[in-house]
Amino acid sequence: MTDRELVDMAKKAMGFAYAPYSRFRVGAALLAKDGRVFLGCNIENASYGATNCAERTAVFKAVSEGVREFEKIAIVASSGDYAAPCGICRQVLFEFMPHGTVILDSEEKGMKRFSVEELLPMGFGRVDMK
Ligand code: THU
Repeated sequence: MTDRELVDMAKKAMGFAYAPYSRFRVGAALLAKDGRVFLGCNIENASYGATNCAERTAVFKAVSEGVREFEKIAIVASSGDYAAPCGICRQVLFEFMPHGTVILDSEEKGMKRFSVEELLPMGFGRVDMK
């Protein structure tokens, strides 16, 4: 699975975004270590705080189906520009793929890659709870 293919899948997932409030649509495609891909989109709510981001939708779908090991996640947004994952999503990515890669795509500038550790330095994890 190339990064380009994963970005294209994230674009497909963005088509399912439910974002009537912000009108900012986000799509994510999460590649598990077993080769499966889980798609996610943002799902907003009239009670704004109940909104779920695209990245977390993808991770929670996978984990709820017994898949917990991931390699990389591609994220795209309707702005066409890079969409940096929010703080809560960074924390969730750190939980399940601390050594994984985040791929962001901009229609004009192309793909950019970050490690999860780079996006959440000194993140709080299980080891900190000992
Ligand atoms: N959003 C995501 O889906 N992922 C992020 O990491 C940033 C924000 C969504 C949530 C909300 O539906 C919209 O973008 C505006 O914040």
